[in-house]
Amino acid sequence: MIRLDKYLSEAGKGTRTEVKKLISGGRVWVSGSQVKDPAYKIDEDNDQVTIDGEDVRYLAMEYYMLNKPKGVVSATRDSRKGNVCVTDLIHERIRKDLFPVGRLDKDTEGLLIITNDGELAHRLLSPKKHVDKTYYAELDKRLTGEAASRLMEGVDIGDEKPTLPCVISRLSDTTCFITIREGRYHEIKRMFKTEGLHVEELRRISMGPLALDPSLGPGEYRPLTEEEISMLKDFDRTDGE
Ligand code: URA
Repeated sequence: MIRLDKYLSEAGKGTRTEVKKLISGGRVWVSGSQVKDPAYKIDEDNDQVTIDGEDVRYLAMEYYMLNKPKGVVSATRDSRKGNVCVTDLIHERIRKDLFPVGRLDKDTEGLLIITNDGELAHRLLSPKKHVDKTYYAELDKRLTGEAASRLMEGVDIGDEKPTLPCVISRLSDTTCFITIREGRYHEIKRMFKTEGLHVEELRRISMGPLALDPSLGPGEYRPLTEEEISMLKDFDRTDGE
């Protein structure tokens, strides 16, 4: 159950003040009755709410898979002029409180979950959970087997602790898949830098059990399926234990 004014505002129908005006103006009906009390309790699953006769679409939680393009920042709002944020790309969204689950650098592409489910995000990002994140990386120079082995063991990138062990599969002399279990700032770029290598392209292709849908081009997104959402929630409960 949720207050009518909160319900309308979460459904993107305006600020709390704006929706209160709609309610007091008699424009809001709940399951066939006019309601003028903003504190009226709505049953999100069963009540039908309309404004001027039009159905209000409400979703408590939204979940999207975005293929983040380069040049867009992993934030909800950015004070730097001219920057587009990842949540700006989700045109279909209903809720205003969407945010990205973790961050990718501005020049990194790939899988980003966009949601307003704080609990899920917290568990996926919790350092204790060690959720696997796999990236495709292109380097400026040859990655030798020895360098890959050193990186896989964990390296000092100037933080308090060395990086946790990771997995690298070399695809060619200068390309590889790398799976890390942490999410430190510029982690992969800083790791390769210890071997004198520069990351030219970085694309996240999976996070935990969720793989980037190959049909999504950079900048494209789609809602997560029910199956993907439960997979993330179930995985979240069992991983790291
Ligand atoms: N590591 C990086 O260096 N950059 C990213 O965007 C993600 C992981």
